[in-house]
Amino acid sequence: MKPAGAAALRADYPEGGEVILRAEAIAARVSALGEEISRDYAGRDPLLVTIMKGGIVFLADLMRAVQIPHQVDIMVVSTYPQGTRSSGVVRILTDLSVSIEKRHVIIVEDIVDTGLTLNYLREMLLARRPASLTICALLEKERHRAASPPLDYVGFRIPDRFVVGYGLDADEFYRHLPDLVAIPERT
Ligand code: IMP
Repeated sequence: MKPAGAAALRADYPEGGEVILRAEAIAARVSALGEEISRDYAGRDPLLVTIMKGGIVFLADLMRAVQIPHQVDIMVVSTYPQGTRSSGVVRILTDLSVSIEKRHVIIVEDIVDTGLTLNYLREMLLARRPASLTICALLEKERHRAASPPLDYVGFRIPDRFVVGYGLDADEFYRHLPDLVAIPERT
């Protein structure tokens, strides 16, 4: 029998998974983040940069919530080649398609766990001399993140559990789930 809170409604949800954020709650928060960014960046035409593939769903929603002129670009980065454990290795698979020099850049990140990925990306992008660089993370894990740079915008702080859905995967599955679902850690 599935525990209370388990995602029993749909067959494509992970076995033993527990919904920790419903789609409606995510939508409301993303909308508020969009309003905040719109106020903060009025007149600055920011460039929203997201990290594939985890950030695509968040970017797609956030960009429609940002109600000022802006552009978007993507980077493809690999951090978790397999399973649920961080490899600690960040690989740039595809770089940005535009120069960010003198641009107001906002990194749109799906989730900050150790902060290693973000730290690496931030340093790399700062070396390209943007006018400013901030970070908007949908999710921040509660664990101590010594490696993480400060986050300017945060959607939700969540427990230190492995989560899937809303763009996040486990071995490339579950990115399409509208809710955020915690799954049992695999060994
Ligand atoms: P960090 O470098 O440990 O902060 O990990 C950041 C990246 O690892 C994120 O952008 C995700 O792609 C992936 N990641 C971290 N935690 C999770 C999780 O709970 N579910 C799915 N992917 C995760």
